[in-house]
Amino acid sequence: MLEIKQLAIAVDGKEILHDINLRIGIGETHVLFGPNGSGKTTLLMAIMGFPRYRVTKGTIIFKGKDITGLPIDERARLGIGMSFQRPPVVRGVKTHDMVGASMRSRAAEARIGRLAERANMTELLHRDINYGFSGGEIKRSELMQLSAQRPRLTLLDEPESGVDLVSIALIGELINELLEKDCPMRSRKCAGLIITHTGHILDYVNARTGYVMLDGRIGCEGDPREILATVKEMGYKECAKCLR
Ligand SMILES: Nc1ncnc2c1ncn2[C@@H]1O[C@H](COP(=O)(O)OP(=O)(O)O)[C@@H](O)[C@H]1O
Ligand SMILES: [Mg+2]
Repeated sequence: MLEIKQLAIAVDGKEILHDINLRIGIGETHVLFGPNGSGKTTLLMAIMGFPRYRVTKGTIIFKGKDITGLPIDERARLGIGMSFQRPPVVRGVKTHDMVGASMRSRAAEARIGRLAERANMTELLHRDINYGFSGGEIKRSELMQLSAQRPRLTLLDEPESGVDLVSIALIGELINELLEKDCPMRSRKCAGLIITHTGHILDYVNARTGYVMLDGRIGCEGDPREILATVKEMGYKECAKCLR
């Protein structure tokens, strides 16, 4: 689904990510850990194709196609979708219309209603995007938009941050639907990369591989639960020893 080779990313002339290598197979969910400021968000923004995140070296391959130079809208059309850590408020655009615009086919009113009900967002559909939304509402709105878009590769930037423990269960269910957790591996068509700071989301999703990012490099590839347990016990300093 996704292959990243020797990727380096610069933001405003400063290299933030160095020599990133990553492979995510179809049907797989991978998890990215790392302290604040290590470059996790930068990686997702670069995969999505935000122009401010400039590729200075390496390639990004999606479903066998080199997308390194493609603009963001073409990547979205090819099937890459992303939820933001802190999405902006968009005054003058109703959440309802954004969900409709995220669908490939012409917006079907009934489908918008179903998606909103599923995400417990019915009351919020008529409000401007993220305007006055709580932390949990913002994250559910992001996932509702992704459910409308139905991307093949879903990139999630800290989907559980700012969400209370009860709502996390619903967030987990919505993510699992996007990532086809209930489908047998062989019939899955999707894959995901999830940034998590706390690791809470691991209680809900079936993650296969975890990585730790430190200072713009990936180290410690392995079982996500083992990585989380090690980080909790010893902190990220010990993870630095895994960097090759
Ligand atoms: N415009 C910029 N100029 C210089 N450094 C930046 C810029 N934007 C982000 N950074 C730096 O990039 C690093 C990685 O940030 P980020 O990807 O947001 O980390 P994370 O998501 O892991 O917390 C941080 O040190 C941040 O200060
Ligand atoms: Mg971040």
